[in-house]
Amino acid sequence: MNGLFITFEGPEGAGKTTILQAAADQLKKNGYSVLATREPGGIEISERIREVILNPSHTAMDPKTEALLYAAARRQHLVEKVKPALEEGKIVLCDRFIDSSLAYQGYARGLGIDEVYSVNRFAIGSMMPNVTIYFDIDPEEGMKRINLNHAREKNRLDLEKLHFHQLVQKGYEEVMNRFPGRFRIVDASQNVEHVLKRVNNIIEGALKENQL
Ligand code: TMP
Repeated sequence: MNGLFITFEGPEGAGKTTILQAAADQLKKNGYSVLATREPGGIEISERIREVILNPSHTAMDPKTEALLYAAARRQHLVEKVKPALEEGKIVLCDRFIDSSLAYQGYARGLGIDEVYSVNRFAIGSMMPNVTIYFDIDPEEGMKRINLNHAREKNRLDLEKLHFHQLVQKGYEEVMNRFPGRFRIVDASQNVEHVLKRVNNIIEGALKENQL
């Protein structure tokens, strides 16, 4: 892998999608070749799986089915899009990756972080991110932001109660304790300019560390 693989993680309403796009634009301006993508999705097969997972009418979905579908979407996106981009030396910025499954399905749905980790290692092999940026936001504040954003369509996971989103936050804390070296934490309650500056600094640091 010659490029740099950076993932963006955090609860709902943390603003990661907006910041990811702005950070990608900045990198392109600086002459880097960048792939900005998201999970679940990013390519046709995985976008189709996304529709199945997030459809608000699919209330009967079993937690293990949910975890397996996320892992399947991840596998396809990785082999079809992420891996080739990294082999070409690109910087890949990915909105969510394995840690979302560990926090949402492993912890919040109660399947177990270790169990979900092993399913995901089957899906991704050794392709772990170089750096993961965690957008730290109080779940109540995050849900407030989502509810104010009327343009955003509410998906099946957005519709979960506040308690679920509090469990997701706890899940991320557990995951960060397990992989301390990989995470960089950003205070996502700050304004966009402030958060973007911090994210750009983290990315610059990662580029230097990897001599890119
Ligand atoms: P997003 O595009 O708003 O981030 O929506 C994706 C939703 O799917 C979000 O609620 C987080 C959830 N999710 C999981 O539960 N597990 C996963 O592995 C991923 C990638 C996302």
